[in-house]
Amino acid sequence: MKHVISPLDLSINELAEVLDLANEIYENPQKYSECCHGKKLATLFYEPSTRTRLSFEAAMLNLGGNVLGFSSADSSSAAKGESVADTIRVVSSYADICAMRHPKEGAPYVASTYSSIPVINAGDGGHNHPTQTLTDLFTIKKLKGRLDNLTIGFCGDLKFGRTVHSLINAMVRYPNVKFVLISPEELQIPNYLRTEVLDAKNIEYKEVKNLDAVMPELDLLYMTRVQRERFFNEEDYIRLKDSFILDLQKLENAKPDMLILHPLPRVNEIATEVDDDPRAVYFEQAKFGVYVRMALIMKLLNITV
Ligand code: CP
Repeated sequence: MKHVISPLDLSINELAEVLDLANEIYENPQKYSECCHGKKLATLFYEPSTRTRLSFEAAMLNLGGNVLGFSSADSSSAAKGESVADTIRVVSSYADICAMRHPKEGAPYVASTYSSIPVINAGDGGHNHPTQTLTDLFTIKKLKGRLDNLTIGFCGDLKFGRTVHSLINAMVRYPNVKFVLISPEELQIPNYLRTEVLDAKNIEYKEVKNLDAVMPELDLLYMTRVQRERFFNEEDYIRLKDSFILDLQKLENAKPDMLILHPLPRVNEIATEVDDDPRAVYFEQAKFGVYVRMALIMKLLNITV
């Protein structure tokens, strides 16, 4: 049995297999429509979600399986003080696989140590979000045609943005990938990513405060929202929340084939006027998340068609 807590829990070959299977499912969904008949996915969400929870549920339903779960800590026995360890022991006897989102970093890992079914981390605090990373990788490969030889700009809240941390961890495994990290000083990437990942692997990167100046260099621009829920005080959030707002004027200097990604939800960091630009692929990215999660569920349940 395998759990997916970090994107690095999948080898580069396993990652490629999941992405290839997701593409096969995307091309021919009908072929896979009954392959999880009789299987159940539990969605244990202790923190709000639209895309991740619903795309996991859509994924299992599309595979002919069933879903059960809760969408907030308040509607589960966590509100009465039940531990994640006890919850997963019980859920292991109700479902075949589970996706867990939790505000505490490491909670899905703890769950995996008590679980007798595969646990997928659906986002833990500011730490990791591996299925968003799979979705991002699928989007880049499908729309850009490659995962190597790319200059990727990450813009916004790089301190708390778990999707950024996960994607950096995944992308450093591909050749000639460079990073441009665009954020206010207070929202720069955590130091462990700088020292243990980027510096340790001799990855080319720079940290800047101005998006306009670096825009022409980028093959991909990964925008993120400032994560209000992870700030210790509201004043800091208000001061930093409008640090970067991408609009059509800012895009004038971008490459004609640069892709704009965003894990969503968006607040105001991408003006809605950008949505109709052919480079804006964030809604397509969210759609791809269903196929990637279908592929991951099949792999973890050892289901082949
Ligand atoms: N991208 C993402 O995780 O969105 P949700 O918070 O809506 O699940």
